Amino acid sequence: MGAETADTAGGTARATYDEHADWYNEFMSAAGPGEYIRRVHAALEDLLGPGEGTCLDVCCGTGAHAPALAGLGWTPVGVDLSGGQLRHAVRRLPVVRADATALPFADASLPAAACVLAHTDVPDYAAVLREVARVLRPGGRFVHLGVHPCYIGAFADWSERPRVIVDERYEDRSRTYDAWNPAGVRARVGAWHLPLADLLNATTAAGLRLVRTVEAGPGGIPDLFGFLAVKA
Ligand SMILES: C[S@@+](CC[C@H](N)C(=O)[O-])C[C@H]1O[C@@H](n2cnc3c(N)ncnc32)[C@H](O)[C@@H]1O
Repeated sequence: MGAETADTAGGTARATYDEHADWYNEFMSAAGPGEYIRRVHAALEDLLGPGEGTCLDVCCGTGAHAPALAGLGWTPVGVDLSGGQLRHAVRRLPVVRADATALPFADASLPAAACVLAHTDVPDYAAVLREVARVLRPGGRFVHLGVHPCYIGAFADWSERPRVIVDERYEDRSRTYDAWNPAGVRARVGAWHLPLADLLNATTAAGLRLVRTVEAGPGGIPDLFGFLAVKA
């Protein structure tokens, strides 16, 4: 693993995770939701597949997915806004502190990128998708993997599993700390919501062609949604 850190963050977007980075690092470690992370990595590996060259880990956080990317043969390079998160990530992959809506990479320069568990952390994920499309080479692969837009959010109550109750707040795209689980990331850091149609439309509008989608979750209710797209 490399230990380079570059800093190109313009400072306009706030690094919300700085004050939660130690907690998040622990949360994503073996002591955290181990079964969940195993499912995240299985979906990531399934969608991205093996390859060579740089795979940009967009909004890499503490670098929890670097081993999974490296295991596929890719060379992960992380980008995140939060210096606190990158303090942990730098032990796992080379990183650059930058805003994912202004990636410090040349047009059409990278063969692959992934953004995992982060779309609800940015106010304008469509802008991230446009930047990913800009830096990918033609034919370059992009994996989006995140909480399922239909079943995870302030609008979804999982406290009576196996029944999940979805309410009218599904339409609300604003940021909120509302969450059925007070111990989760959402209640601590807050989250935006991107309805499924918005996510898929923003992807194709960015010039990314959808290849395959994946849903995964416990007990038949998917809590993860992801897709592989290629730069047209
Ligand atoms: C829930 S964490 C996910 C981190 C990592 N991908 C993972 O799965 O563990 C979301 C990350 O997105 C980062 N982030 C939020 N907005 C960002 C932006 N505009 N540019 C880069 N990173 C951003 C946060 O700093 C945080 O580390």
